[in-house]
Amino acid sequence: MIMNEDLIKAATLARDKAHAPYSKFHVGAAIRTPSGAIFVGCNVENVAYPEGTCAEAGAIAAMCVAGEYEIQEIVVVAGGDEPSSPCGGCRQKISEFSKGNVVVTMVATGGSTKAVKVADLLPGAFDLERLNAGITVADSK
Ligand code: THU
Repeated sequence: MIMNEDLIKAATLARDKAHAPYSKFHVGAAIRTPSGAIFVGCNVENVAYPEGTCAEAGAIAAMCVAGEYEIQEIVVVAGGDEPSSPCGGCRQKISEFSKGNVVVTMVATGGSTKAVKVADLLPGAFDLERLNAGITVADSK
């Protein structure tokens, strides 16, 4: 049995709830946290296109509102035959709550899957260390 079969199932069910009438590209995401809880999200588009949100963002918001802030594992399910990578913004959002060795599993409804570590998905991420290094007294107003 594949270890993250339950997470794939959760993301697939979440994908069924996607609101994507404009792109018709349905995405579901599922996060497991160290507590063992699973949080899911789907993409939610808007007629004002830039207001739409990605599946990963929805799952992260659900995790935070439950009082959890650490991603242990994440699965993203999208349509087609090839796995779909999280967009740049979602890579940054995932990296906010993940250690570099956290595995992001991308699943295509057509069957193929790909697993990539967060550090490889977003090399050179802007992080807290970089933020702190760039804060100077001169800029403190
Ligand atoms: N989408 C996601 O939900 N996650 C991603 O990582 C890539 C893109 C959504 C946004 C939009 O609703 C649709 O897929 C097409 O871009």
